[in-house]
Amino acid sequence: MKIIPISGALGAEVSGLDVSVKLSNSQTSELYEAFLKHRVLFFREQTLSAIGLLKFSKIFGEPTVYPFIQGLPDVPEVIEIIKTEADEKNFGGSWHSDTSYMKQPAKATLLYAKEVPEYGGDTLFCNTNMAYEELSEGMKKLLCNMIGINSSEKGYKGGRAAGMNRLNAMKGAYNKKSKSFESEHPVIRTHPDTGNKSIYINKSHTYKFKDMSEDESKPLIDYLCDFMVKPEFTCRFRWRKGSIAVWDNRTTLHNAINDYQKKRRHMQRITLEGCEPR
Ligand code: SIN
Repeated sequence: MKIIPISGALGAEVSGLDVSVKLSNSQTSELYEAFLKHRVLFFREQTLSAIGLLKFSKIFGEPTVYPFIQGLPDVPEVIEIIKTEADEKNFGGSWHSDTSYMKQPAKATLLYAKEVPEYGGDTLFCNTNMAYEELSEGMKKLLCNMIGINSSEKGYKGGRAAGMNRLNAMKGAYNKKSKSFESEHPVIRTHPDTGNKSIYINKSHTYKFKDMSEDESKPLIDYLCDFMVKPEFTCRFRWRKGSIAVWDNRTTLHNAINDYQKKRRHMQRITLEGCEPR
């Protein structure tokens, strides 16, 4: 197995590994260490059933169900993310950390490409620990006791709701009973495995700081969210059929670029259970 970084900030491509076969203990620990170090790992030319994807995901954590989309009938932890030729909005098309509106947000996410456009539909990632480290001591001090309020509805300007309604109307899988979620989390969180600190807000879900109004919060939310996605804190992944990405939501944000209108993109996704951010 070879693990080669793809940018100076985060992300590494793993080659020489067929993830559909049972991996040895040393391979799985090497992968987990690489996941912590590089924050997002990429695999190419993999062929996996939904069950195979589920088994592979367990190297990185415990699969769980995603609250807004019903999973596959036999493998409920696997959801389908499909943008058709007719859809205009995409799923996840703004910078975010998955399910940060939950009390225990997702630890990690796996995405497996079943069909991709010839070009377009790349995914961007940023390293929120690197961004934290680059803040001034004064800003770190200001943020260290602040709490962000994260909502699954408020503040979300991306394509999730519209895209999902459309996707699920088509597939008949929209979970209409699903309520919205809101949770308070520290603005600076400490990674439970590495002890590193990261900025833990995002424009998609964090709509204010605790004990502050939305108007008062907005300028600082905007400043930090724009700061975190400076090009030098990011990497960009170009998908091919059979590619897999697995990212650590505790120390990254991601953004699915919506630049492939009238083309189809079909992914399968698994969310891994996380703990309460501290
Ligand atoms: C997501 O936010 O999980 C979607 C990412 C993508 O489709 O590239």
